[in-house]
Amino acid sequence: MSRTYSKRWPLVVVLLALAISGAYAQEQEEEYKPFIGQPGKDVVWVPTEENLVEKMLDLAEVTPGDYVIDLGSGDGRTVIAAAKRGAVAHGIEFNPDMVALSKRNAVEAGVTDKATFVTADIFESDISTATVITMFLLPDINLKLRPMLLDLKPGTRIVSNSFTMQDWKADETVNVGADCQTWCTAYLWIVPAKVDGTWTIPQGGELMLMQEFQKISGELNSGNTRQSVTGKLRGNEITFTAGNYTYKGTVNGTRMTGTVSTEKSNGSWTASRK
Ligand SMILES: C[S@@+](CC[C@H](N)C(=O)[O-])C[C@H]1O[C@@H](n2cnc3c(N)ncnc32)[C@H](O)[C@@H]1O
Repeated sequence: MSRTYSKRWPLVVVLLALAISGAYAQEQEEEYKPFIGQPGKDVVWVPTEENLVEKMLDLAEVTPGDYVIDLGSGDGRTVIAAAKRGAVAHGIEFNPDMVALSKRNAVEAGVTDKATFVTADIFESDISTATVITMFLLPDINLKLRPMLLDLKPGTRIVSNSFTMQDWKADETVNVGADCQTWCTAYLWIVPAKVDGTWTIPQGGELMLMQEFQKISGELNSGNTRQSVTGKLRGNEITFTAGNYTYKGTVNGTRMTGTVSTEKSNGSWTASRK
């Protein structure tokens, strides 16, 4: 009996050592506690306050049909909150410890079926399938991301905690005020369709549009009449006035269709890209 024991001793010692080191490693991982202001690749970590997270998701009108991507997802709070609303949500975060923490937080919140996280650089990530982008970065990082964001599908909603996109003015702004200590403003942009250029109106005439983000201006030429055009885009929805006429329509790639009205009459219009 005692000889069997002594033969097994080395095995017992190895197993014990493995168990202790495994438990120690797990404890180390679970004990990882981020601190506010800790360095990040391009931006330090500061968490968005929970009520602003909810306000940002409200502003973007997140539904279970959405695919939400948080750029620089920190401890995962925005992704987890979006997943709790039934959306599929994904966090891109450069710091692997934060990604591991986010995954644990998602398990705790019971949303691992909807919430995923990846350790990656936002500038090297494919975000083209997002329907909602959330972010809390910095003004210069927002500007650097701007071309990528403007190339997203028209209608994609982008919400930013506190930082703007300079001359691409926000479509909506909300401040959570008294219930929030710091960084309490959310901005919303809706990616506009691209309409800059000349369009032919089959009923006769040409529509020349100049586009600055969601703002449009230009000219509507029909026969000898020239009318200046001003209007705006909200995703694929276009509205503009030319003289007494108000045009409302939907942009679908190289075609626009909609209704045109004055105080006295209503009709339909179409335009095709020249
Ligand atoms: C201000 S925190 C915001 C965290 C989270 N989105 C929130 O609102 O609570 C910015 C996060 O971006 C991460 N980050 C910075 N540069 C990054 C990059 N190039 N790619 C991915 N993540 C980055 C930081 O590690 C940090 O967690």
